[in-house]
Amino acid sequence: MLAGQPIIILRENVERNYGKEAQRSNITAAKAIAGAVRTTLGPRGMDKMLVGSTGDIVITNDGATILQEISVQHPGAKMVIEVAKTQDDEVGDGTTTAVILVGALMEQAESLLDQGIHPTVIAQGYRLGMEKAIEIVDGLSLKVDPSDKKTLAKICDTAITGKSIEGVKEKLDGIIVDAVSAVAQKVNGKITIDEDDVMVKKQRGQAMDDAELIRGVVIDKKRVHEGMPKKVTKAKVALIATPLEITKTQVKAKIKISTAEQIAAFSEQEGETLKKLADYVIDSGANVLLCQKGLSDPVQFRLAKAGVLAVEDVPESDMKYAAQALNGTIVNKPEDLLAKDLGAAETVEEDSNIDIIRFSGCRNPKAIAILLRGSSDYLLDELERAVYDGKRVVMDAMEDGTFVVGGAAVEIELLMKIKDYSASVGGRVQLALEAYAAAFESIPRTLAENSGYNPIDKLVDLKTAHAKGKKNAGLNVYTGEIIDMHAEGVFEPLRSKRQSIQSASETAAMLVRVDDMMITQQKRPAGMPGGPMG
Ligand SMILES: Nc1ncnc2c1ncn2[C@@H]1O[C@H](COP(=O)(O)OP(=O)(O)OP(=O)(O)O)[C@@H](O)[C@H]1O
Ligand SMILES: [Mg+2]
Repeated sequence: MLAGQPIIILRENVERNYGKEAQRSNITAAKAIAGAVRTTLGPRGMDKMLVGSTGDIVITNDGATILQEISVQHPGAKMVIEVAKTQDDEVGDGTTTAVILVGALMEQAESLLDQGIHPTVIAQGYRLGMEKAIEIVDGLSLKVDPSDKKTLAKICDTAITGKSIEGVKEKLDGIIVDAVSAVAQKVNGKITIDEDDVMVKKQRGQAMDDAELIRGVVIDKKRVHEGMPKKVTKAKVALIATPLEITKTQVKAKIKISTAEQIAAFSEQEGETLKKLADYVIDSGANVLLCQKGLSDPVQFRLAKAGVLAVEDVPESDMKYAAQALNGTIVNKPEDLLAKDLGAAETVEEDSNIDIIRFSGCRNPKAIAILLRGSSDYLLDELERAVYDGKRVVMDAMEDGTFVVGGAAVEIELLMKIKDYSASVGGRVQLALEAYAAAFESIPRTLAENSGYNPIDKLVDLKTAHAKGKKNAGLNVYTGEIIDMHAEGVFEPLRSKRQSIQSASETAAMLVRVDDMMITQQKRPAGMPGGPMG
């Protein structure tokens, strides 16, 4: 008989949280994560300065980057961060919006729970709301032709606004749209774009305004030897992954040298080996060499004498990109190099002002590079993140052929239309749907707040305009006026709105139904205070 004896099911190091406590803890976590990024929303949002454990500094406005940098232990908080990651993977923009939305949905859930509404009903209401919301945004979406560069530039502009790069926005819009258009392919009537076809390079020192679009490849290195040509036309490019030098590992046996003749013979032999390495390159017919590893002095010298422009220590990613752009093959052993492995470009030239090597007239016309310049690494990194967001939204809009207007116009439509719809549902689910609709207020509110306007006033004004049928009415974050966002040209890809609605709603519906959290504590290393789980 077991009577009176407790049965132990869970291991002793399992921390358990259940019932209301578990629900509240997830709600608090979601609100906290949303709270951490909300001040960055919109063009007038603030930046965050993140300092890593090693002291490295990141200054950013980008939701995905902020959440990626902060370490979070709460499992509910981790799920909210996952929403940002998914948004970033699928769309590349709208991460802050998605996270604010989950926070708002969880906050609404909190008051529903207080009213005694069962979590299953809340989840059901949220799912219904999500379906309706998707239907509404689809209905609001507009078409964009992949050749309509003007509209695409506006979509790009909305995504890169507010990332401390105001002065160069317009120029970047043009560069990004041109770059993405150049690599877009039409397959069976559908546009597909491989993001990796556009190479982004950062160069410190110049003004941001010097950003440029390069039809070709850029390697930010100099040639290894002054005696090499600065410019090569009708370039044939060898791509080698291994070092052209005698590495220690290659000479395993101990060599005992006792006489001067032996030393001479030995170094002569070494010299011969190195010469041979250089000759493999020269004999293949190459006049340019990109080597992923080092080139020893004798090899450099021999290559220079043969008029080969060589670059060493080229990063692997650049090697791969160059191979694709030049239509060449990366070989592992120099002795395997054949004429057919060589890539081709019209010209290869070192730009000594900024220490880069440009390859133009590449065999593959889809080779496009964006060269960014800026006075500091922090600025360059933020510029790169802006270009990343811009590139992704232009891709999204070109691939799907759709966009919506920004400035919270869509969110106002959503909250009003879903509220209307909830009246037709009835029962307790109606309350959950109403709460779902109200969660969309978080976006116009935050946008107004971050821009320095009274959120309640702006919300009222926006609702009034939409009630009059002005479905494009949004907030001008610079003047506080309610304006037509279509006329203003504030555009976002439809994919961004769809994705943020979907992942925020699904995550909220899932989290609200959790009433039991069992956390297995990992063994903490001796001497470390606190376990890894908080
Ligand atoms: N010129 C503008 N006028 C009004 N609203 C704007 C303007 N530009 C952007 N917005 C709005 O700002 C919001 C986007 O802000 P932000 O780019 O900071 O966040 P996100 O796109 O959600 O996240 P992230 O860019 O960090 O991934 C959208 O609601 C967008 O409509
Ligand atoms: Mg954005």
